[in-house]
Amino acid sequence: MTRILVLPGDGIGPEVMAAALTVFDALGLSVELDHDLVGGAAYDAEGTPLPDRVLAKAHAADAVLFGAVGGPKWDGVAYDLRPEAAIIGLRKHLDLFANLRPARVFDRLADASSLKPELVRGLDLMIVRESTGGVYFGEPRGIERLPDGTERGVNTEVYSTPEIERVARVALDLARRRQGRVTSVDKANVMESGLLWRRTVQAVRDRDFTDVALDHLYADNCAMQIVRAPKQFDVVVTGNLFGDILSDLASMCTGSLGLLPSATLGPVDADGRRPALYEPIHGSAPDIAGRGVANPIAQILSLAMLLRWSLGLEEPATRVERACEAALARVRTPDLAAPDLPTVGTREMADAVVRELGL
Ligand code: NAI
Ligand code: MG
Repeated sequence: MTRILVLPGDGIGPEVMAAALTVFDALGLSVELDHDLVGGAAYDAEGTPLPDRVLAKAHAADAVLFGAVGGPKWDGVAYDLRPEAAIIGLRKHLDLFANLRPARVFDRLADASSLKPELVRGLDLMIVRESTGGVYFGEPRGIERLPDGTERGVNTEVYSTPEIERVARVALDLARRRQGRVTSVDKANVMESGLLWRRTVQAVRDRDFTDVALDHLYADNCAMQIVRAPKQFDVVVTGNLFGDILSDLASMCTGSLGLLPSATLGPVDADGRRPALYEPIHGSAPDIAGRGVANPIAQILSLAMLLRWSLGLEEPATRVERACEAALARVRTPDLAAPDLPTVGTREMADAVVRELGL
């Protein structure tokens, strides 16, 4: 039987996860859930944020549904035992190299955006960020002391052809099921890794994806274009650093962190299995944790992505997404409060989504 590993984590993680599981239960799927501890919750119980048992379960599961980890409670904890080390460890051990961050604006939510509603109404942008390489991991790195007594901090942007090829394939393949357009983003004008990035993405497209339109943009121009006219994009593929920044930028086209899901995919193995982790892009929101007011939509949409991507359950996934949109037209959590709509808590928001599933 298909098995999902459920890791709620800390802060609002367990609150929004409970909401997503209410929706999951209402779907009545024959999928087994396995719950376990991660992050600060695991550290408190077992002295490590990512117990070996949890890692082994993550490897064995068909997908991982993750909440959020971290919080001020663990501020004094050693660097590699911090709650956040859990998500980094999961990405590293499962080789989760392609981080997919959709920024979609439901028609009825365009007023919540930080941009003018007409710029974002109907927006459906997917950013594919390479998430295991680039300047965050490249060697050499470190802070070194120089003979004159000053210091020098060094990071190195490194990308190899296979690393670029595999994330390019994810983006190009995704575009086939969308509007058929990919924009590859780099700084090929000033960076060697960017030059290789551009050449390699183009070669993959020319070899295997001639039905997909590909263009290239410099990262600074792309940032400007996302604010100027975000609807011009379908799929954007980029490296770790630019993807980190551009996806946060794109997220604000939608209006609240509490709306945005993500998927992070690993390589397909010999048996055709692909490790994948799904999580909201927000963190554990300690400032609102425990009050039952967090917006659960990002977690519920992460569940929808999981159903579509890892379980191939397209119909329930679409049903969940439509139900979220319909529910948001009726009620809102405080982060999206609208003068003409009732403000509700996390659980009521989940109940509203369940009602709109039409079950
Ligand atoms: P955050 O995303 O937790 O919160 C930023 C702001 O957005 C806060 O004001 C929060 O109340 C609000 N917010 C976030 N999610 C919301 C939701 N669903 N509904 C309503 N409001 C929401 O980011 P912050 O404050 O920088 O980090 C808090 C903790 O979370 C830190 O320990 C950080 O390391 C951790 N974190 C964990 C992540 C993960 O588990 N993947 C990702 C990002 C941060
Ligand atoms: Mg970020």
